[in-house]
Amino acid sequence: MLKDVTARLLTEWRSGWTFKKGSDISAVHWSVVKTFFKWAFSTDCVAGLDSLPDNSVACVVTSHPYNIGLKYGAHDDNRSDYPEWMRSVCVGIKRDNGHFFLQVGGIAKNPTISWLVLSMALAAGFVIQNQIVWAKSVTVGNESHGHFKPLNSDRFLNQTYEFIFHLTKTGKVPVDRLAVGVPFADKTNIARFDHEGDDRGVS
Ligand SMILES: C[S@@+](CC[C@H](N)C(=O)[O-])C[C@H]1O[C@@H](n2cnc3c(N)ncnc32)[C@H](O)[C@@H]1O
Repeated sequence: MLKDVTARLLTEWRSGWTFKKGSDISAVHWSVVKTFFKWAFSTDCVAGLDSLPDNSVACVVTSHPYNIGLKYGAHDDNRSDYPEWMRSVCVGIKRDNGHFFLQVGGIAKNPTISWLVLSMALAAGFVIQNQIVWAKSVTVGNESHGHFKPLNSDRFLNQTYEFIFHLTKTGKVPVDRLAVGVPFADKTNIARFDHEGDDRGVS
């Protein structure tokens, strides 16, 4: 049943159907979407990944538990098998030319969570294609952008960043680098490195 729904959703997606709110979404499409999301939000992630059609997921972005004892309703955030479990999640991501963005940060008392989880992804056959630092809060002069969790401590500093490891199976999966980002502030770099494409047409 679940495989049928996901396969149908993929067929719809590949035939050019785009998700739009409002009147142009038919009752059939809407029921497929509802069923899919109901399934996605209520299924254990390891079982869910296993039930997807092979090679169907081009991009995975995590916001997974860090095993720090948070209250997640049905889910246990105090697992004794956390490393092995994270490894089995990563093993479930099967597409050879897909992208896996593993977003993970440590906590002040346990800063090594990021490396532990990363090592499980590497053990599952991924390589680091890019490493991104998600700056949750940046301050330049007196102006801050973003937020971070306050902490009561006379020994720890605030955790203002997490990592986003861009993992692939080969390290060579193409990305559209110029689709995001900002123009070079120092235009002389563009001429110096002969990279006109990096200008993005914005001055
Ligand atoms: C850090 S939270 C992510 C929350 C989500 N990004 C959001 O903004 O609402 C981790 C989530 O993973 C869920 N979770 C924990 N174990 C799971 C499992 N075995 N399968 C699926 N989801 C799980 C938790 O219930 C929790 O909602």
